[in-house]
Amino acid sequence: RELARAVKFSAKLMGKALARRVKCTILYATETGKSERFARSLCEIFKHAFDAKVLNMEEYDPIYLEHEQLLLVVTSTFGNGDPPENGEAFAKSLHEMKTPHNTQNGEPLSMSYFKMSTPSESDDKGDTSPDTTGNLDADDGPLANVHYSVFGLGSRAYPNFCAFAHFVDNMINSLGGMRINKMMEGDELCGQEESFRQWAEETFKTACETFCVGDDSSISEATSSLSKTDFTWSPGKFRLTPADKEPKITEALSKVHNKTVLPCKLIERTQLQSQNSSRQTILIKLDTYGASELAYVPGDHVAIFPKNSPDMVESILARLHNAPPADQIIKTEILQEKSTPLGSSKIWEQVEKIPICSLRTAFSRYLDITTPPSINMLKQLASQATWESDKDRLENLANDIHAYEDWKHERNPNLVEVFEEFPSLRVNPTLLMTQLPLLQQRFYSISSSPKAYPGEIHATVAVVKYNTMGGVGPVHEGVCSSWLNKCDIGETIPCVVRMAPSFHLPDDSTLPVVMVGPGTGIAPFRSFWQQRKIEREMLPPPTHGEKQGWGEMSLYFGCRQSTVDHIYESELNACAKEGVLSQVNVALSREPGKKKEYVQDLLKKNSQQIFESIMKKGGHFFVCGDVGMASDVTTTLSKIIQEHGKMTSEQAQSYLLKLRESNRFHEDIFG
Ligand code: 2AM
Repeated sequence: RELARAVKFSAKLMGKALARRVKCTILYATETGKSERFARSLCEIFKHAFDAKVLNMEEYDPIYLEHEQLLLVVTSTFGNGDPPENGEAFAKSLHEMKTPHNTQNGEPLSMSYFKMSTPSESDDKGDTSPDTTGNLDADDGPLANVHYSVFGLGSRAYPNFCAFAHFVDNMINSLGGMRINKMMEGDELCGQEESFRQWAEETFKTACETFCVGDDSSISEATSSLSKTDFTWSPGKFRLTPADKEPKITEALSKVHNKTVLPCKLIERTQLQSQNSSRQTILIKLDTYGASELAYVPGDHVAIFPKNSPDMVESILARLHNAPPADQIIKTEILQEKSTPLGSSKIWEQVEKIPICSLRTAFSRYLDITTPPSINMLKQLASQATWESDKDRLENLANDIHAYEDWKHERNPNLVEVFEEFPSLRVNPTLLMTQLPLLQQRFYSISSSPKAYPGEIHATVAVVKYNTMGGVGPVHEGVCSSWLNKCDIGETIPCVVRMAPSFHLPDDSTLPVVMVGPGTGIAPFRSFWQQRKIEREMLPPPTHGEKQGWGEMSLYFGCRQSTVDHIYESELNACAKEGVLSQVNVALSREPGKKKEYVQDLLKKNSQQIFESIMKKGGHFFVCGDVGMASDVTTTLSKIIQEHGKMTSEQAQSYLLKLRESNRFHEDIFG
């Protein structure tokens, strides 16, 4: 009873101390769960001196923003600068705070719009020196009393790296927030953990100075908690224990990725390019079993959770030592130190990251074995090499950032190739289970109309295959596309539907629509023309004000050769014949005997018409495909606006910005 009283008393004291502590709100938005992990370890540090709590942006009511004292944001970016799905509402709220009279009804805001409309450098209040009074002039904006800092996660492989984090950082700043530490970017391809550690330490120190809390020893104790929460591997820290039941793959993926992953069935696969093409594109049709969570509208994406190549998995299994049989069901556990009122004790806890499954399933379904190992991974692998020469070379690579980057860039080595390069590696399975990144979903623009194909999702998939080392190295195959190309019909395909932030047909179907999509960029437009076709068959022609009838829909498609990779040709011809598509313009870049032509060349040829559709009739412009093409197309559109609208290049730029703001310029871009 004495002990219970002591515990109660100390809890009361702690409550009082906490009540006096400065509140620190840590918000995260995440697509893969990584930002949440970082946000939680940040909370562990900040708890040493602040009343810190972690919240998903989705669960946070922005009404509280202006009352925050210390706000920390950890967020990733989706695709071409969009927020993760659970950050969309927060982004919109920030935008509304900034421009309360300029919100867009219903339609989610385009992040490319956010990117362009974020405050310019000159608006930026810059990094503030620590402000101990916390009293800023209220005229400085609604967030004038908020101290904040942002950490962005992303991959430099994508255009607009960390764009959403920059958007949040700039918006809070322009609303008056005081940045206590400059925003830092963490690149998944290189040094993300290190960048986070550095940012977290700096931010904690500055926050302590700003609010006059903590002393040197508490600061060093707090920052050392980062290394404790870190999951670096050591042989005695993890173990694998037999377990009896493996959860269903979609249930396990849902838990691992913190979203509802549902099973679809592959019902059909069609090769879209001719047999003599050096490249392959496939149309896959999935049965959704009528799941309402997999409902979508044209323009949305489907995320597919792939399976690694069985041959690669086999090669990895062959290089494990002290491993249970590959098909035995196991649980991965970590030895954790827990403090109780009676002192601390050590207990084994299941590692959340990996579900209960066999080693084979873990390497097939949950772990990324194709992305080149990180520096940290190489350091840990060095401990597993039995030859000194392998150990030395691995350590040298891990300690020389330039050598590492060259090696990675030239070979893009997957785990199996690392094992081949370092033959003496025999790896403890818990190292791989706990240190490899998670195998991520791949996003595809949905290629079907839900009205035309209820209960189905179609995707147009380019089968990725290339030789490394500038074309002379070994063949690498895309994980998801080659799986979808090879797996059996009837196979379960774990899926999630992801709403496109801003790639939907206009509500007013009398408006003209211009669609530009060379190669697999045509994918979402198939959902558009199928939807329009069925609506024309089912509904009376629309009216809107003075306007009557279906707005024109013109497509600009590009491929190399008409007889080789003109995908969906017959479907397009049929739609053109029926008048569903008012125009199908095809640019052929490698047609024998013809001059090379790209989609933007055809846009230029039809510039008067584009000008009429977009500028005169208030139409919508859509572009889908790779980032280089999209940038060239945008430049062409800007030139068309200049020429026909009689504008300077600056005026055309601001006209384009307005098009984005009014949600009439839509991009679906991949790296
Ligand atoms: P290429 O491969 O002959 O260069 C689909 O991939 C089509 O898009 C191909 O015809 C390809 O041509 C073309 N393409 C490549 N780069 C492009 C760019 N920057 N703008 C427009 N089209 C491009």
